[in-house]
Amino acid sequence: MRRKIRIVVSGVGNRALPKDPVSSNWFGWINLISKSDGFKLVAVHDPLDESLKRVVEKGYLDSRNTYTDLDEMLSHVSCDAMLVTNPAEYHAGTVQKAIENNLHILIEKPFVTDIDEGKKLIEAIEGKGLISCVIQNWRYKDVGRSIFKVLKDGLLGSIGHIFFRYVRNRENPNYPKYIFEEEYPLLYAMGIHHFDLFRHILDDEIHSVAGYAFKPPWSMYKSETGVNLFIKTKSGIPIVYTGTISSTNSNFLQESLLVECEKGSLLNKSDWSEPPLWFYPAGNKDKIDLTAEITNRSARQQYDISDEYILDKFHKSIAFGEEQICSARDGLMSLCVVEASRLACESGKKIFMPEFLS
Ligand SMILES: NC(=O)c1ccc[n+]([C@@H]2O[C@H](COP(=O)([O-])OP(=O)(O)OC[C@H]3O[C@@H](n4cnc5c(N)ncnc54)[C@H](O)[C@@H]3O)[C@@H](O)[C@H]2O)c1
Repeated sequence: MRRKIRIVVSGVGNRALPKDPVSSNWFGWINLISKSDGFKLVAVHDPLDESLKRVVEKGYLDSRNTYTDLDEMLSHVSCDAMLVTNPAEYHAGTVQKAIENNLHILIEKPFVTDIDEGKKLIEAIEGKGLISCVIQNWRYKDVGRSIFKVLKDGLLGSIGHIFFRYVRNRENPNYPKYIFEEEYPLLYAMGIHHFDLFRHILDDEIHSVAGYAFKPPWSMYKSETGVNLFIKTKSGIPIVYTGTISSTNSNFLQESLLVECEKGSLLNKSDWSEPPLWFYPAGNKDKIDLTAEITNRSARQQYDISDEYILDKFHKSIAFGEEQICSARDGLMSLCVVEASRLACESGKKIFMPEFLS
């Protein structure tokens, strides 16, 4: 049997290994890697000793395989791939080091925070023939997959427009301090999932973005926490996107996605894109759950389904040369929509993607 792919991790926070496994929305990458047949966790890096200690205490690695210095880890450890789960601002530097060491790269969203930096990294990744995958998991939850399929099969006729509303209470003083310093946190933390989902389900790219940003007086964030955007795709589909992470409400569902088509409407109301996905056929009051056969419907189960799928696809691309999913090049396009949205809000102008990208 082919040997397992040896993987290292940079950044052992909540996504890699949940601090509170019971309330966490996911099992966590280190847990998934450890139970996977395709990967072997060989070392982890994090500047904080307490993060590394959690890996040792939970029995995943011996303390000799934990590093507070990335270069030291890469010079001591033989490995094939790296998972980048540190804060977004460090992704580019970490990916650069992975490339220098010829490692395949699995990267948490957003791929990077700077488009030009991202373009250079993509050239290097592709130049070396490395496999990259950006973790844009909204695509691979069952709602995203079901919408993609029903639209691809052309069952609903022409697509009219998308309305998306996001209302979240992320004003949580217990979050790490850096979270409140981040620029446009709604766009970089969540918008990127939603924009990536739109690109994926429509199999289309974004052509233009116009919009405004706002923030309520009680917000703890430095930057604006809400946006109201009007987005158009290359094929002319309008997307109305409105959201905030400064809601004081923790009762109603956060996400509302409505895709209106010639033959009916698709509706998902959820916290983190979990089922059901309803189809309301045009002209009558019936509704059909297009995700009826999905039994694992909780937020946690849906995160784990999509994370496992991504890990499996990353493995198959490396081990068997199968097609990559959400490569760095693909992931960068979703970041470009985030950046264009930010620029649109800051300038008050409509941003055209072809000009923005040239
Ligand atoms: N795909 C998703 O649904 C999803 C959900 C949450 C977070 N994320 C992404 O996952 C990544 C990590 O988020 P998190 O919630 O685990 O954050 P976190 O704050 O819980 O953990 C970050 C960890 O990185 C460490 N770190 C700080 N600087 C570092 C550096 N220079 N190099 C290596 N490690 C460093 C910190 O000590 C901490 O242990 C981010 O990119 C975030 O956008 C994705």
